[in-house]
Amino acid sequence: MTNESVPEREPYLRAMIDPPGGNPFPQRHLLGIEGLPPEQIQYLLDVAEGYAAAQRSRQFRPKLRGLTQINLFFEASTRTLMSFEIAGKRLGMDTVSFSVDTSSIKKGETLLDTAQTLNAMRPDVLVVRHGRSGAVSLLAQKMNCAVINAGDGQHEHPTQALLDALTIRRRKGRIHGLTIAICGDILHSRVARSNIHLLSAMGARVRVVAPPTLLPYECMRLGAEVFTNMEDGLKGCDVVMMLRLQKERMQGAFLPSEREFFHFYGLTEDKLKPAKPDVLVMHPGPMNRGVEIATSVADNLQHSAIEEQVEMGVAVRMGCLDVLTRHLHDQTEADQ
Ligand code: NCD
Repeated sequence: MTNESVPEREPYLRAMIDPPGGNPFPQRHLLGIEGLPPEQIQYLLDVAEGYAAAQRSRQFRPKLRGLTQINLFFEASTRTLMSFEIAGKRLGMDTVSFSVDTSSIKKGETLLDTAQTLNAMRPDVLVVRHGRSGAVSLLAQKMNCAVINAGDGQHEHPTQALLDALTIRRRKGRIHGLTIAICGDILHSRVARSNIHLLSAMGARVRVVAPPTLLPYECMRLGAEVFTNMEDGLKGCDVVMMLRLQKERMQGAFLPSEREFFHFYGLTEDKLKPAKPDVLVMHPGPMNRGVEIATSVADNLQHSAIEEQVEMGVAVRMGCLDVLTRHLHDQTEADQ
C-alpha cells in the first residue's frame, strides 16, 4: 500500500505504513501465518504470554477503551467467536458481533457491499470468518481498519495456530526442535495449514498423518513429513494434534465410513504408545469423540492440553487486538 492511497482523514494509517522507531509487528492486518517472519510470530506469542498471566491473576486494564471491534462470522463458531468477544471486552473495547443469519446478506447483499457498509461505521478492528478461502483478504482491501482472519475456508486460521503455539511453548518450554504430528483431515483444514507454516517457521519438525485421500499435495512443499499410518507417524512425537473431519467441506466420498476412520486414525491410548511418554495431545475443537479421538485420551489430563488451548485462545486474541491497534492507543496512553 502506498501513502497516496490512504485518505487524508485517516492519519493513523500513515503511522502504520511508516512506523516510527521500528515497529516489532509492522503488519496492518493478520490474514495468515504464511510469510510472517519468525521474530514477528515470536513477538505476538510474547505479548499473548503477558495476557495469559494477566488472565490468571484477573488483572485487566481497559487499554483499548473507546475502540470498536466488529466480529463478522459467516460460519458457525463457539470458541473463536466467544474468545474474540471476551478478549475485546477484557481490553475495554466496544465489541459488536454480527449474525449473518439476521443480516442483509440474506437479502442478497454482496460481501464487498457489506464490507463497505461496515467500513462506513468506522470500526477499529474487524474480525472475519468466512467459508471461502481468500474471502477475508478480499474484504480487507476495502477496509480502513485492521482485519483479523478468524478462518477462511480451508486456507488459514492464524489465531488458532498462535494459540496452539503458545500452549506448546508453555507446556514444553520451546517449539524449536520438537517433533509435532498433525493428524486427520489435513486436506480441508485451515488449522493444519496455519500450524504447518507457524511450527516450521519456529523450527519444529512437522509431520502430517492422514489417509491418502485427505492429504493435500502441498504438504511436502510446505516442508512437512508425510505419513499414512499412525504408528509410524506418532513414533517419538512430542506433540500430537488431532483434527476434526470437516464433513461440511467434503464434496464426494473421502472415507469408507467414520467407524473405519476411527479404527485406523482415531487417537486411542494404544495408538499413542509410540509417541514420547510425556506427549502432549491437542485438538482445536469442536471434537468428535469416537471419530478422530477417543474420550479416554481427550479427557486424560496427564496428556491433554485441550482446555489450556481454549484458555490461550483468549490471551492470543487479546494480544492480537492490542498489537494491531498499537498506533491508536500508544498515543492515547502517552497523553494520559
Ligand atoms: C476450527 C475451525 O473452525 O477451523 N475450530 C476452531 O476454530 N476452534 C476447527 C474445526 O472446525 O474443526
